[in-house]
Amino acid sequence: MVSGAGRRFGALEVFREISLEVGEREVLVIIGPSGCGKTTLLRCIDGLIPLTAGEIRVEGDRVVTPREGVTMVFQHFGLFPWKTVYQNVAYGLKLAGCSSSEIAEKVPKYINLVGLSGFEDYYPYQVSGGMQQRCGLARALSVEPRVLLMDEPFGAVDAQTREILQFELLRIWDMRPTTMVFVTHAIDEAVLMGDRVMVLKGRPSSVHEIIDVDLPRPRDRATLSMPRFAALRERVWSTLMDDARRAEFEVKR
Ligand SMILES: Nc1ncnc2c1ncn2[C@@H]1O[C@H](COP(=O)(O)OP(=O)(O)OP(=O)(O)O)[C@@H](O)[C@H]1O
Ligand SMILES: [Mg+2]
Repeated sequence: MVSGAGRRFGALEVFREISLEVGEREVLVIIGPSGCGKTTLLRCIDGLIPLTAGEIRVEGDRVVTPREGVTMVFQHFGLFPWKTVYQNVAYGLKLAGCSSSEIAEKVPKYINLVGLSGFEDYYPYQVSGGMQQRCGLARALSVEPRVLLMDEPFGAVDAQTREILQFELLRIWDMRPTTMVFVTHAIDEAVLMGDRVMVLKGRPSSVHEIIDVDLPRPRDRATLSMPRFAALRERVWSTLMDDARRAEFEVKR
């Protein structure tokens, strides 16, 4: 899917030589420290901005602009403040070229799926952060994408809402498994959601390691207490915190 990808902004080289493959219905998690280029890479995969080296292909086609069937959920909700919950979800379908009867059928379905029924006529500022994120999720899911790009979708909500949304997303994924590239900097979330976890590191960043997550699906709260979950979390942690970084923290303390 991605081969030899690099991106710079002027003198700043964000990442280089990133190559990755995402299988059909696979969830690939990308984890890495703040500023390592996760959002930038997703934006490139979505076709919103170009790479400065390498190439990205989705379903065999080279990505140059956003394409049908690929949908992104943004780190900061990405809702229109002047549109209601209903209108925000409907907008995605309108863009995808759906007829008004399809829109009338799908919007309530996906609003219900993310637990927002009753809030159709509220504006984003009238609902909580977690609810705004659910709305963003409903908008992305409603177009039934073949590839879902998730940029820290639960990064801006409180810890409890985050857990609820994680398990909701797992439940939705089990009903309709979709190819997903999921960006996070939370280790637990990475292991819980992913089939594989790709660790980005360095300046410029590159792929440091790819870890297979051999936890059974469907995954739920019980997954969190599996010894294998703890072992994988430890593995990702130690990959992220190599000797150099650990030393840095120890000196500071
Ligand atoms: N449009 C832009 N112009 C210049 N520099 C940019 C632009 N977009 C991103 N950058 C730079 O690229 C680097 C990576 O940013 P990016 O948002 O991809 O990081 P991230 O890994 O998503 O971080 P976070 O975990 O905090 O969301 C940062 O140093 C940022 O300043
Ligand atoms: Mg980001």
